[in-house]
Amino acid sequence: MVKNGFLIHYLRSSMEKEIVLSGIRPTGFLHLGNYFGAMRNYVRMQDEYNCYFFVANWHSLTTHPDTKTLQESVLRVVAENIACGLDPEKVSLYVQSDVPEIAELYLYLNMLAYKGELEKTTSFKDKVRLQPENVNAGLLTYPVLQAADILIHRAVKVPVGKDQEQNLEMARNFAERFNYRYGETFPLPYAFNYNSELVKILGLDGNGKMSKSENQNTTLFLADEDDAIRNKIKKAKTDQGPLAPNSVKPDYIENLFTLMKLVSSADTLKKFEDDFNNSSDGNCIIRYGDMKKQLAEDMVSFIQPIRNQALDLQNNKELLIKIIRQGADKARSSASNTLSIVRKAVGMDY
Ligand code: TRP
Repeated sequence: MVKNGFLIHYLRSSMEKEIVLSGIRPTGFLHLGNYFGAMRNYVRMQDEYNCYFFVANWHSLTTHPDTKTLQESVLRVVAENIACGLDPEKVSLYVQSDVPEIAELYLYLNMLAYKGELEKTTSFKDKVRLQPENVNAGLLTYPVLQAADILIHRAVKVPVGKDQEQNLEMARNFAERFNYRYGETFPLPYAFNYNSELVKILGLDGNGKMSKSENQNTTLFLADEDDAIRNKIKKAKTDQGPLAPNSVKPDYIENLFTLMKLVSSADTLKKFEDDFNNSSDGNCIIRYGDMKKQLAEDMVSFIQPIRNQALDLQNNKELLIKIIRQGADKARSSASNTLSIVRKAVGMDY
């Protein structure tokens, strides 16, 4: 029996493309950091791998028990992902709660996860600090549910940022324990990204990563209106300019150049790089006001079509529902296949 599970996995993976999976929490709006840090990579992966991308709405219950706006957020995230280039024909794009097989695997994995190790994870400790009035068991077992998300498709490549490393390590531990106890069933999943260094985008004040929850005025959202984009960039932190040619750029200035590199033409970028590095009569040439004006226009041109497509999709709820149903069908077919192997391995197949 031990060998059997392994053989099935071996045959499957040798015949098919490698399996990539990632989850997106439906809390908050997607922003430019998500786009360049994650989604752009997902879009690239969809041609090379067998991809599963899903909206983690069960996970969101651990921190957001009020579900009044949850459905809307889930559909918005799906729409935004498609607008960014994910093709629901190529990938399986689904909602976690539409795949009940994940919950059953979560149950088996819970018996292999220890209270002590779960209590020690950084994200659990952070959340205990943030919501001391709601330290629920779901919060404690968050990494177990995440492991079930991944292992249910026997995914091996998980495109996530650094902050998810610990959750992935736990997923590997649970998979190894399962394999050891019930026979080789799961390949071990690892974090995966194309460029070892992910593009890091800071907030427009230069303080920390661009983020959904922190300061709305320093984050560029994919849903931002043109004028909101212009205003935020106009207010981005700068200073009086470099005091000498070829100075080292402070973080917040470097960040503006990073953004320009991502959304402006090579010529535009070069012009402002040169202006930054050169001087005339001892005075540095660069004018941050001009740079920000140019960046704002290029950013508007970049975000506008994504925003509009996402809005069109959100106004076509029928189509969105059809897309997630189709995603769920694909995901459930893979998930039930794994689950029948799991049930057999555990001895739950009567
Ligand atoms: N925990 C992830 C986050 O906070 C979301 C997530 C849930 C996830 N399940 C996953 C990511 C499975 C990758 C694989 O962003």
